[in-house]
Amino acid sequence: MKHLLSVNDLGADGIEEVLRLTDSFVEVSARSIPKVPALRGKTIVWLFYEDSTRTRLSFETAAKRLSADTMNFSVSTSSVKKGESLRDTVETIEAMGIDALVVRHASAGVPWQISQWVDAAVVNAGDGWHEHPTQALLDCYTIRQRRQSLHGLRIAIVGDVKHSRVARSDVLAFTALGAEVTLVAPPTLLPPSLEGWPVDVTSDLDAVLPKADVVYLLRMQKERQHESLLPSLREYTALWGLTRDRARLLADDAIVMHPGPMNRGVEIAAEVADLPNAVITQQVANGVAVRMAVLYLLLGSGAELVA
Ligand code: ASP
Ligand code: CP
Repeated sequence: MKHLLSVNDLGADGIEEVLRLTDSFVEVSARSIPKVPALRGKTIVWLFYEDSTRTRLSFETAAKRLSADTMNFSVSTSSVKKGESLRDTVETIEAMGIDALVVRHASAGVPWQISQWVDAAVVNAGDGWHEHPTQALLDCYTIRQRRQSLHGLRIAIVGDVKHSRVARSDVLAFTALGAEVTLVAPPTLLPPSLEGWPVDVTSDLDAVLPKADVVYLLRMQKERQHESLLPSLREYTALWGLTRDRARLLADDAIVMHPGPMNRGVEIAAEVADLPNAVITQQVANGVAVRMAVLYLLLGSGAELVA
């Protein structure tokens, strides 16, 4: 695999390979000196045209633990502000000698476009409403830590599916590993067409929760909603928020997930996010080891895995 642009670049076997490798990097991360030389001499650039906390910092931590060199590109202080095009920017960075670009952009397809222009490996760290493959990988890993396998699990993905790249990548990854996915949302927060999506769809969260093994809440993506899609956030929370009362409908061993950042009090009640069944912090922690596995797979051929 040269790039990671979509979950489909991996398929079920590729996802399994990343999850297996992640186990090794979880072990590395638990050491007193959590560092291996696997990517010594490699240079990785963070090209984030959209804001990020966990994806960017976990990629950075992952690269450092693999001994790679990193270059940070900040759009707001770069020559993008003088009007330099995406292509010129990327080719300028590549001329300095780099091995990988980790890209986040507000437009779908930008990481793919960049992969046509450069020799370096490209990793999609979120493109518009399209995909966020490393989020899906860390979500699969987190579920597997609690449930061994995704096969046959009933996973409800709840909320603003329409604007969520996480939902698209998660549906691909969860169903590839054999889970049954139900999308739960008001019709205005679903994509205009779900043709080809291997999912069930409902707007009745209360009916889904008692049977769910995993409930995955999506952030209300207000920055991507350019029209009024809901009467009010309060009504959204009343019908589709995981409130304290609604969380009581869940089975004792059901898992509550969220990609972050959370709108506590909107899609998830503040105290529900802190229940023992919520694995939201675990998702973040696993993000580092999963991204180590992805960077190693793309750049580490021939290198000793864990020295
Ligand atoms: N952080 C995730 C993303 O960038 C989810 C979100 O922002 O709601 O897609
Ligand atoms: N989950 C996620 O991608 O978070 P950030 O937007 O903070 O990177």
